Amino acid sequence: KGCKLVGCGSALPSIQISNDNLSEIVDTNDEWISVRTGIRNRRILSRKESLTAMATEAAQKALQMAKVEPNDVDLVLLCTSTPEDLFGSAPQIQKALGCSHNPLAYDITAACSGFLLGLVSAACYIRGGGFNNVLVIGADALSRYVDWTDRGSCILFGDAAGAVLLQVITPFHIFLIEEDGLFAFDMHSDGEGQRHLKAGMKENNTDQELATNGSLLGLLPKGSSSYSCIEMNGKEVFRFAVRVVPHSIELALEKAGLGVSSIDWLILHQANQRIIDAVATRLEVPQERVISNLANYGNTSAASIPLALDEAVRSGKVQAGDTIATAGFGAGLTWGSAIVRW
Ligand code: ACO
Repeated sequence: KGCKLVGCGSALPSIQISNDNLSEIVDTNDEWISVRTGIRNRRILSRKESLTAMATEAAQKALQMAKVEPNDVDLVLLCTSTPEDLFGSAPQIQKALGCSHNPLAYDITAACSGFLLGLVSAACYIRGGGFNNVLVIGADALSRYVDWTDRGSCILFGDAAGAVLLQVITPFHIFLIEEDGLFAFDMHSDGEGQRHLKAGMKENNTDQELATNGSLLGLLPKGSSSYSCIEMNGKEVFRFAVRVVPHSIELALEKAGLGVSSIDWLILHQANQRIIDAVATRLEVPQERVISNLANYGNTSAASIPLALDEAVRSGKVQAGDTIATAGFGAGLTWGSAIVRW
């Protein structure tokens, strides 16, 4: 069995924050941010908006494009590092979509590589059999974990959701189309690099509780742990991305038996325009084949690849049959790439 991409969709929060807006809260300016990152605006979830609702909207649009009913979905994979329930938000999306036959739905946590891992997982489920329509949603609200006093990181992130629907290719279809929609992939992680980018768990113990140390109560966690804001060594993350991403794409192309000239579109995780440019230059992919929407949305973590894909498809840039090289990279550290056909 093979699979194909048959729909995509995206959704954005209502609040837009420009570089000038940020310069009102930290010591920065539009020129520094746009020259160093390519980012000019980002969308941020308001306190009244929910990640789950935004992810559901993106998934609904993907289903509409694919002309597939919610009841025909067999699996919902929510790629997010910012769920609204510690135990996962995917089942809430499955419920909101109205998939009444209770298909499996669960979260995948791999920061900015999350969508790529979800895409490959979906393809593996379909190839294994028993799954015909799999929704892969990338959605993140990193604004909830940003230190808004840290000018080195708060300028980078935005919130968004994007989704794709992967569908089985039956033997009859394969006879007609001949090729699977996921040609090849390459994925890695390196826990050693976690120190460069993290949002670790913190226990909210009060001084009084710490004073009870020694008693059983003092040994038990308080039960209201939370996560620290994002701590990032931007230079190290930059170096890591520029080092690993071109190599990963080359490996995936080699596995697919394709050369760089076969790439119609390069859609990288949208983290920094200088990273995108450096990877494209290393691979010798011409600028006109590189998709970037970073200026409008910043780094939207697991949402960035499906958001960029959705815009490119709906604007008519990406056409049916195009070959796309895509790559995710980020916290973990995690990274990987896939060669897919739209
Ligand atoms: N405005 C003005 N000045 C600033 C700002 C700012 N927002 N931020 C930092 N500076 C200053 C620094 O203090 C420093 O000043 P100094 O020279 O007086 O010490 C100077 O600008 C240079 O700072 P650097 O940190 O060296 O700047 P750099 O060129 O490395 O750019 C950046 C920083 C944009 C963060 C870059 O390193 C980057 O994009 N790295 C990749 C980060 C990334 O992609 N992270 C997400 C990964 S995905 C995930 O999983 C979440």
